Amino acid sequence: MSHSNAVPSPETARTPEEFVRLLRRLRAWSELTYRELEVRAQRHGLHLARSTTAAVLGRGALPRAGFVHAYVAACGLTPEPWLGARRRIAAAADTPDAPHPVPAVVPAQLPSDLADFTGREAELASIEAGLTATDATAPGVVPLVAVSGRAGVGKTALAVHAAHALTERFTNGTLFVDLRGASGTPAEPRDVLVRFLNALGLPGATPVPDSVEELATLYRTLSAHRDILVVLDNAASERQIRPLLPGVGGPVVLVTSRHRLTSTVPSRSVELEPLPAEQGVELLARIAGADRVTAEPDAAADLVRLCDGCPLALRVAGARLACRRQWPLDRLAGMLRDERRRLDELAIGDLAVRACLEQEYAALPDAARRTFRMLGLLAAPRFPATAAASLLDCPADLADTHLEPLVDAGLLTAVPGEDGDATTTYRVPDLVRLYARERATAERSAAWHPALTGG
Ligand SMILES: Nc1ncnc2c1ncn2[C@@H]1O[C@H](COP(=O)(O)OP(=O)(O)OP(=O)(O)O)[C@@H](O)[C@H]1O
Ligand SMILES: [Mg+2]
Repeated sequence: MSHSNAVPSPETARTPEEFVRLLRRLRAWSELTYRELEVRAQRHGLHLARSTTAAVLGRGALPRAGFVHAYVAACGLTPEPWLGARRRIAAAADTPDAPHPVPAVVPAQLPSDLADFTGREAELASIEAGLTATDATAPGVVPLVAVSGRAGVGKTALAVHAAHALTERFTNGTLFVDLRGASGTPAEPRDVLVRFLNALGLPGATPVPDSVEELATLYRTLSAHRDILVVLDNAASERQIRPLLPGVGGPVVLVTSRHRLTSTVPSRSVELEPLPAEQGVELLARIAGADRVTAEPDAAADLVRLCDGCPLALRVAGARLACRRQWPLDRLAGMLRDERRRLDELAIGDLAVRACLEQEYAALPDAARRTFRMLGLLAAPRFPATAAASLLDCPADLADTHLEPLVDAGLLTAVPGEDGDATTTYRVPDLVRLYARERATAERSAAWHPALTGG
């Protein structure tokens, strides 16, 4: 042990915060890790759990005498002066003119809600029930609601809206993070934990542990038994979210992800679909103007259909109309009816349907990408497995196997056959089909690679 600084003395501490600060300095002086302190305390026949040390040093409250005894002894000093200082501070805190305790930090990290949020009543009710009817969850389990669905279907919008509606209930605050699961650079759990710990009021001088495991332990300790709502948006995988699950006894979690998280058992799952036609028209009216939608109901309905009810596409179409007050709705609908133009027209600013589809395509495994390009050769949005089989040049049952990853990615919907009919029918949204056609044209030679046929 090399002590670079003078040994801290407890005499100068006047308040619990100052006392804890000196305890932290003592650890810096001792140059021991939480783990080493635990082991050294054991040698003295004392108990000093790592997570307790982390929690006590992370808060400003006066620690219990037993802790001070074990901690100071583990640091290699005589506990008595420290216990004396602790008694003095505890007595002063009991007097009426004692300083007020520092109020706990209440994080409020939610991004702004959408002013024109539309529909999703059933999904909102389901999320609220999952996050508030917590007696349905076993006591040692953190209630978790998972929202899944395709790119641009409105997962983030829904999660943020639902969370805002619940802020009054979660009086100890809301934590929010975009985990960037669909990008090439998903957020590192370590970085997220450091941010969360700071938001939960970890005093700046507290030494931050190195390992994700220790950080996660400290995070669970600081969050446990507090009414906190944690929103983990755009999760890549269970591996990414596991360390970000808070402590039990108060906190709840809302996760969104493009795919279903299969190994985490949520209290509730919400699979988000495109907006129904009526709500699509309502959203368009809110963005582009109710008067215009009322004036051209057929064109409005057509626009919603041409956008596949996808909120992202509707946002883009609506925003384009909002910039062109003089355009009749049917003018944009006409542009979108031309299948070769549709994806080009569905872009404005940094919002683009094609870019979203590109991301989904890039995330597919190689073999699924080849199958995906085959979809571009289809003329109709509905097709039976047998049609896919002939395009893929494989037996019908193998076609289902090829199409499964696309169903999992939400790019296709499988409609099971009627009683006694074993063939599945598939439905592919038009925008997906058009993008698949672009890919097929761009990568024509690769589209007929033998792997496509399972050979
Ligand atoms: N219910 C809604 N009401 C109004 N606008 C919505 C609604 N749902 C989504 N939107 C709009 O649609 C666009 C896409 O929504 P959002 O970003 O929530 O999708 P997402 O499913 O999170 O996509 P990604 O998988 O890419 O993260 C946004 O511009 C959003 O404003
Ligand atoms: Mg999102």
